[in-house]
Amino acid sequence: MVEHEIKERLIFLRTFLKNPKEVGSITPSSRFLQESMLRHVDFRKARHIVEYGAGTGILTREILKHARPDARILCFETNRKFCRYLKNHFNDMRLTIINDSAENISQHLHRHNMLSIDYALSSLPFSNLAESEKARIMQGTRAALARSGSFILYKYTVNFRQYLKYYFRRISRIFVPLNLPPTFVYICQK
Ligand SMILES: C[S@@+](CC[C@H](N)C(=O)[O-])C[C@H]1O[C@@H](n2cnc3c(N)ncnc32)[C@H](O)[C@@H]1O
Repeated sequence: MVEHEIKERLIFLRTFLKNPKEVGSITPSSRFLQESMLRHVDFRKARHIVEYGAGTGILTREILKHARPDARILCFETNRKFCRYLKNHFNDMRLTIINDSAENISQHLHRHNMLSIDYALSSLPFSNLAESEKARIMQGTRAALARSGSFILYKYTVNFRQYLKYYFRRISRIFVPLNLPPTFVYICQK
């Protein structure tokens, strides 16, 4: 593991210890989980991408690596310390970091003149969110998602499909056994 990865993990762990409910995981996502999510993104076509819960930016970095030169990426992150870290470590014109909850997606898209989104990628700890916040995230994402777009998220439990079905018409689920803990990636379309 290289030095910056160790540093990033330590910042992540420290932030988790202070805000366990908000952060929801002791370590950043594994390579296996990142790959399982990004495999479902057609980066050749994706112009508008939103990321929910960027943390220290482990997935953000991969998104930027693959995104088109003219793509625009809005990252939502509630934790101020993580936002500061992201702002200090990512210098890319395509990226906007927003220190706010993903539940306010509609107003931020409006402000940034983004009429629709091609992909929403979420690492949010849904089990720790209030019902009303979760519902606003689902509604806002569904409203903004292009017809051909996808909402890609993960959850450690198998039974989230029932909940997602209320908002999305097509849902597929992929098991990622090599992530710790093993997790499920859900790909939702409207
Ligand atoms: C499990 S961590 C994932 C971090 C990173 N994306 C990764 O894959 O390692 C969840 C992140 O979501 C953020 N978060 C929690 N609730 C949020 C919300 N309502 N809106 C935006 N970010 C939120 C937390 O602060 C934390 O950084």
